[in-house]
Amino acid sequence: MRDAAPKTVYLAEYTPFGFIVEDVSLTFDLDPHKTRVKSRIAFRPNPEATDKTFFLHGENLDLISATIDGKPVNTEQTDEGLTCPVPDAPFVWEAEVEIDPANNTALEGLYMSNGMYCTQCEAEGFRKITYYPDRPDVMATFNVTVNGPHPVLLSNGNPVKTSQHHVEWHDPWPKPPYLFALVAGDLVAHSDSFTTMSGRKVDLNLYVRPGDEGKCAFGMEALKASMKWDEDVYGREYDLDLFNIVAVDDFNMGAMENKGLNIFNSSAVLASPETSTDMNFERIEAIIAHEYFHNWTGNRITCRDWFQLCLKEGLTVFRDSQFTSDMRSAPVKRISDVIDLRARQFPEDQGPLAHPVRPESFQEINNFYTATVYEKGAEVIGMLKTLVGDEGYYKALDLYFTRHDGDAATIEDWLKVFEDTTGRDLSQFKRWYSQAGTPRVKVEESFELDELTLTFTQHTPPSTATPDPQPQVIPIALGLIGPDGKEVLETQTVELHEETQIIRITSLEGRPVPSILRGFSAPIVLEQDLSDADRAHLLAHDTDPFNRWEAGRTLARKALLGIIENGASVDEAYLDGLRAVITDDSLDPAYRALMLGLPSQSDLANTLYEAGKAPDPAAIYDATETMRDVLASHLKDDLHALYKANQVSEPYQPDAEQSGKRSLANAMLSLITRAEGAELAAQQYAAADNMTQQLAALANAIRVGQGAQMLADFEAQWKDDRLVMDKWFGLQVMEAKPKDAAATAERLTEHPDFNHKNPNRFRAVFGALAMHHAGFHHESGDAYTLLADWLITLDPINPQTTARMCSAFQTWKRYDADRQNKIKTEVARILATRDLSRDTTEMLTRIQG
Ligand code: ARG
Ligand code: ZN
Repeated sequence: MRDAAPKTVYLAEYTPFGFIVEDVSLTFDLDPHKTRVKSRIAFRPNPEATDKTFFLHGENLDLISATIDGKPVNTEQTDEGLTCPVPDAPFVWEAEVEIDPANNTALEGLYMSNGMYCTQCEAEGFRKITYYPDRPDVMATFNVTVNGPHPVLLSNGNPVKTSQHHVEWHDPWPKPPYLFALVAGDLVAHSDSFTTMSGRKVDLNLYVRPGDEGKCAFGMEALKASMKWDEDVYGREYDLDLFNIVAVDDFNMGAMENKGLNIFNSSAVLASPETSTDMNFERIEAIIAHEYFHNWTGNRITCRDWFQLCLKEGLTVFRDSQFTSDMRSAPVKRISDVIDLRARQFPEDQGPLAHPVRPESFQEINNFYTATVYEKGAEVIGMLKTLVGDEGYYKALDLYFTRHDGDAATIEDWLKVFEDTTGRDLSQFKRWYSQAGTPRVKVEESFELDELTLTFTQHTPPSTATPDPQPQVIPIALGLIGPDGKEVLETQTVELHEETQIIRITSLEGRPVPSILRGFSAPIVLEQDLSDADRAHLLAHDTDPFNRWEAGRTLARKALLGIIENGASVDEAYLDGLRAVITDDSLDPAYRALMLGLPSQSDLANTLYEAGKAPDPAAIYDATETMRDVLASHLKDDLHALYKANQVSEPYQPDAEQSGKRSLANAMLSLITRAEGAELAAQQYAAADNMTQQLAALANAIRVGQGAQMLADFEAQWKDDRLVMDKWFGLQVMEAKPKDAAATAERLTEHPDFNHKNPNRFRAVFGALAMHHAGFHHESGDAYTLLADWLITLDPINPQTTARMCSAFQTWKRYDADRQNKIKTEVARILATRDLSRDTTEMLTRIQG
């Protein structure tokens, strides 16, 4: 089928399409195996293009007929599309194709999920629906007719004609094909409305399968809050009379921002207190906001080509994190984002998959929906905002929206609005978009008389993607905490441009402790030699909540490394400092709970690797267990009191206040269970009226080997709820002992409700296995083999989800020769599979390095 040598696409080779699409009309006659799609597309030559080749993308399409200006035309077809002779003047292309949604297991293009039809076109799925120039810089208005025996027939825009089994839609906003969507099925709507700032009433619907009506209210509230927030903060108003969201059970990612018709993985929108945890609620609120915000950052202004993906994704992630900070707690959100960045983006940026925020080449674009493009892309915007200030930022954004509305834009366009509004030269800053790798900034300190000198040196380790990194613009927010614990210098931002830069601060009364990289002002690794006493001082006194947390985190990491390397005991000053924070009722319980979290085992493995030592996953696991025992015993007099003090007596609300209390109480429960067994967990389980408490109780009971009955009860209670059963599958792997993790995952694949074709279920088991550091890297190599077996099974069914899961192997270079060989063997075995997808082939080839 495919060419033997996969094609690489380069940013540098961009050329505009030779034709402009004026208008598109599509008619769908839905049928599970024989859906007919008629298209009528008005083209005219593009005066700005030099290459006038008429090529339409098309994959897995059965061409029934094709005409130009009403006359049949001879087409030349390949696996990737077709060409034909066209007039040198405006013309109308008409075609009819047949497609097979029921057999579309890749979940890209038009496919079926539990009897409903739905689409996923980003990035290049529209070509699986009809022949089209499937590229984001080709924007057009769409008219869509849907014929099918379903009560609900949806597409983008506004409905213009509705009769039984027939609906016509018109989307007045020109859009790229990746924003096309169609949904048909037996769905029910949870409806509401929103009145925009200019007084227009917008109908809002959340469509779900019958039975899920009770899980819609929260998502709807989040949508309205997002619409309001985007008006208040960015001045952005919604632009259609209708906004629809549909929940789908089989979906490769979180959600998709199709114009006026967002399609969501049901896990990213359906919520109820009984079935969703506090974390689920927070994630749902963020994803609803994210997809809604795309209406301006993504849809009204889209990307010229897929290399510019961060233009919409980095910005939209940045916007949704601003929203969450405003709706909940800003420090808690910042800390959570940094934990996530370090867990997902740093390993990518520091391993064989490293690529710039704006990549310069790819084989399969789906492989570049990464933490680097999204999360580092958002960090880059955060730095830009720090550098130009709030006022400069919003001025630049206003210009961006007015200047580029309706455009398919580039990173150059984006940076130019900042240059034009603020007068700043951003040419060096632009390296954040072109260089891969995590910069490391070393800071050296000296203090003499009344003067503190800080010497900063930046260095980015070279990578295949960026062999010769140049110095970047790094905003470092810093403050100083005096010997008495009072802040002697409020937060200032210094800008690093050079490889080495020196900062002097004078008129100090004694040596202060520098608090550097406040709020994590840049996505870098900070190398700072501070004594444990200085860190304990920051843990006790830093006014910056991020750095206060970071001080505790760093002490915890040191303590863990001490245990791993020489069985050292944990520093009492740290334990006392931690206890002071945990028991300080003036602090937000959510923040206190974060203080109790330990650096992940993967993070510790990386620290050891960077220090030139091969990490032993079993030893890291044991040290983490020991550390938790130490915490339990050091805090033993506080555990029950804090557990009780943080019980919520009011009816369940998934808000920041209540969920903060539950997270602190559950942190206590885990230490109590460790010290005393599962009695309290059993009580909590029995009394729980919400999933947050039920699931935490279950996890703790499993952890101490007393979860069997609860697991059976849980399964009996929730066997008909797919989203809750995903938790049941995942939790058993997560909480397994390292030696049992692979066997547990394997046993779960034999459960009648395991279905590898459903991405949520596949990820519940194998995502959990890949995240179980000591289990995945168990010396037997069983987990490597099991995962490889299943990736081979899944690849012909769903390449996208398979390829994504391959990143489990990306850290292989950290480990000892035996593990390295085992992983290399599995990677090679997958690569040797016949007809392996382009997606998986590219990922594994890059991982091999
Ligand atoms: N644009 C969607 C979002 O960020 C995600 C689409 C992911 N597409 C993909 N092919 N991986 O919300
Ligand atoms: Zn997005």
